[in-house]
Amino acid sequence: MAKKKLGIGIIGSGGIAQGAHMPGYAALADCEILAVADVSEGARNSAAEKFNVPHKFKDWKDLLKIEEIDAVSVCTPNTYHFQPTIDCLNAGKHVLVEKPMAISAAEAKKMLQTARKLGLKLMVGQTARFNPQARAMKDFIESGAIGDIYYARAMALRRRGIPGWGAFTSKKLSVGGPIFDIGVHILDLTLWLMGFPEPKTVSGTVYNPIGTRPGPQVAGMGGWDPAKYGVEDFGVGLVKFKNGATVVLEASWALNLAEDIHGTILCGTKGGVQSSPLRLIREECGALTVADPQILSGPSGHAEEVRAFVECIQKNLPEPVPAEEALITQRILDGVYESSKTGKEVKV
Ligand SMILES: NC(=O)c1ccc[n+]([C@@H]2O[C@H](COP(=O)([O-])OP(=O)(O)OC[C@H]3O[C@@H](n4cnc5c(N)ncnc54)[C@H](O)[C@@H]3O)[C@@H](O)[C@H]2O)c1
Repeated sequence: MAKKKLGIGIIGSGGIAQGAHMPGYAALADCEILAVADVSEGARNSAAEKFNVPHKFKDWKDLLKIEEIDAVSVCTPNTYHFQPTIDCLNAGKHVLVEKPMAISAAEAKKMLQTARKLGLKLMVGQTARFNPQARAMKDFIESGAIGDIYYARAMALRRRGIPGWGAFTSKKLSVGGPIFDIGVHILDLTLWLMGFPEPKTVSGTVYNPIGTRPGPQVAGMGGWDPAKYGVEDFGVGLVKFKNGATVVLEASWALNLAEDIHGTILCGTKGGVQSSPLRLIREECGALTVADPQILSGPSGHAEEVRAFVECIQKNLPEPVPAEEALITQRILDGVYESSKTGKEVKV
């Protein structure tokens, strides 16, 4: 008898669903996308048509009534990560939820507790760890080549990259700007490479002088409405960890820089490693040697993320991005906003 395929549901069938999750599942012979749910008729129709999906719904609760659905990707704007995830878990479905896991650590904690109570997988879409370059960095670090990491800089700095589409600049739907959108990716990558040390305090500030400024715009990713711009356009945080390590997180959609800066720099007691481009720094033979490792091939981060999610369900493995780790990241992100509001260093 043929093995039953893993039934997949998609909640929020916009950009990331159609660009990453759905192609990821479609590429796996043992998965079948059975339904999409989206409040936008256009988004659900185009997703269903493109990926040959038999069922489409406006309300995600209707999708959850399909018994053959085993796992769901939650790809809605940030404010709608929490409730669909809780509803999916309560309906007995495993969940791959997009980043940031939620809009607060309190929500993230409830999601995690629900998944653990019900014995279901809950993974967060931290795509950056699945790139071949990230895997190589992890291997270098685990080989002991750079010793103990005590300082890192996590940078996701766009000069002009305020998203001109979707809900990204809406305070109501997204709650945070670049700190939530791209800061979360580089922070997750950095913390994963450091082995997720326990954070102690965060001191941070967020700004939005460019996003809210009326008048002519220098735009890189489409224009935006400054009157409706509700989130930060730049944020910075200094995070101190219980093991003595320090991380600086910087994320912008708009900042007056000469060029974009993306990547992480990790400094250890014996050497360092940095991404974009990948470089390995070591103390050797009385000198600092800098190597430029060449990654010749590998799967895309998005495809690998979906494949790894499916595998963890099928083989009952721990999630490759467990909710416990995403909760740590979320506590730090909350800390940046909280510290900016209070003007004080906050415990996280
Ligand atoms: N991992 C990554 O690299 C990556 C990249 C882009 C976006 N994202 C994340 O994915 C999420 C979605 O971003 P996007 O770029 O796909 O946005 P999008 O606007 O293209 O798609 C979101 C979809 O959700 C739908 N939606 C909104 N409210 C809904 C509701 N209550 N019920 C059902 N559907 C609803 C919208 O109609 C839209 O079609 C965000 O949280 C974002 O942070 C992750």
